[in-house]
Amino acid sequence: MVTTYQNWIGGRWAPARSGGTRENIDPASGELLGIFPRSGAEDVNDAVNAAQQALAAWRAMPGPRRGEILFRAGEVLVRRKEEFAREMTPEMGKVLKETRGDVQEAIDMTYYMAGEGRRCFGQTTPSELPDKFAMCVRQPVGVVAAITPWNFPMAIPAWKIIPALICGNTIVFKPASDTPKSAWNLAKTLEEAGLPPGVLNVVFGSGGEAGTPLVEHPVVDLVSFTGSNEVGRGIALKAAQLGKRLHLEMGGKNAIIIMDDADLNLALDGVIWSAFGTSGQRCTAASRLIVQRGILDELTKRLIARTEALRLGHGLDEGTDVGPVVNHEQLVKIDGYMEVARKEGATIACGGSIANVGALAKGFFFRPTVLTDVKRNMRVAQEEIFGPVIAVIAVDSLEEAIAVNNDVPFGLSTSIYTRDVNQAFRGIEGITTGLLYVNAGTIGAEVHLPFGGTRGTGNGHREAGQAALDTYTEWKTVFVDYSGKLQRAQIDVEAAKP
Ligand code: UN1
Repeated sequence: MVTTYQNWIGGRWAPARSGGTRENIDPASGELLGIFPRSGAEDVNDAVNAAQQALAAWRAMPGPRRGEILFRAGEVLVRRKEEFAREMTPEMGKVLKETRGDVQEAIDMTYYMAGEGRRCFGQTTPSELPDKFAMCVRQPVGVVAAITPWNFPMAIPAWKIIPALICGNTIVFKPASDTPKSAWNLAKTLEEAGLPPGVLNVVFGSGGEAGTPLVEHPVVDLVSFTGSNEVGRGIALKAAQLGKRLHLEMGGKNAIIIMDDADLNLALDGVIWSAFGTSGQRCTAASRLIVQRGILDELTKRLIARTEALRLGHGLDEGTDVGPVVNHEQLVKIDGYMEVARKEGATIACGGSIANVGALAKGFFFRPTVLTDVKRNMRVAQEEIFGPVIAVIAVDSLEEAIAVNNDVPFGLSTSIYTRDVNQAFRGIEGITTGLLYVNAGTIGAEVHLPFGGTRGTGNGHREAGQAALDTYTEWKTVFVDYSGKLQRAQIDVEAAKP
């Protein structure tokens, strides 16, 4: 018996107006998990109108009260963490310990932002004139469109929705079509926590059919998008034309730098986790390994042995290290890069093919892959593959490693392994990504620090931490003149001198 789910609009659950539906499929087994609405422009319009109607009351509610609702949502997430993780693994593939982490990241964000209900600090500062008070306070932007990817089905929606809510915005949420159940679970959580009708609205559907009308809707003030660079740039063009606020979080081509003096066991643990966790489908996944030549042979040999030992399987099975990739399209794309690698002269040292034997035959599995003999400017060293593939690039020095690291169209995350504190600090100074780890892999962001990247990864905004408040609020600068006379800034300053 397969359940049919509905959109959440203005506090009511309803099917798509067209009656259209889409199946939610397990990428490891092909099993049908649920049926979700296939929404279009008319559903988006209903949702945006509901968000607009709910805005005045929600922004007028005191921040601490909004925080209490979020705190209750955090409690629900804690209680249902295991259940939500066990529903997330089958819909997108990553192993259970990672889906538990995904729900935990939503919990962390919810508690962190619930506290912001009593802070959301502004600034006060002296005025240049006497009897005049100067401050700036945050105000919500308005109606926010949150468009999210499938690789972090609950964490990334929470990164957008939860800060936007605490700041007093209302939301239309369009989750990735591959992971609707986790989005539905997050919405149900907020409903149970007592979020008023219309403050969050959820519209299930594809980017083309639901995402585009959402971005283009005149009532939407701010679009927050995480996904591919190609789609993000299209949204940026539209947002520019329509004069909308925009927050973009896009691809990565992240590297782990390993210097000759590094602790190799530690570094290899970081590489395996960063390259093959989530089947390499994190924005923060390591897809390049920049290795100083003195340890190249030893490190590569050990990396290949450890990669070949990884077990592919269903993410709910205890023995599985690496789950499937999310869908057939991604599988074909990753496989296509093997031909690109060969043509450019790289060596496929292990993996390099679709795994479709035995129990794996029903799913989208790609063998964890190590590419060697890679040059810094090859396509496999420049383009985001978004699969379990890592390219090994040899360098002679730290300077060369930093130059290779920075020379890609993305700038999300870098890691450097060294036992030399001077080299570590030179790395910190020279590396130009938005996230940087010393003696740890490229993944491991925490919710109370800014998350995002330079170059093609983003558009200058950051997710999470205090930086998220800047994304979801506008500054309002306020002057209160209690002198009882006209005081002209910049002009009457002489009179104010003693
Ligand atoms: C992403 O890769 O899209 O640091 C988000 C990490 C996670 C978040 C990643 N905490 O990898």
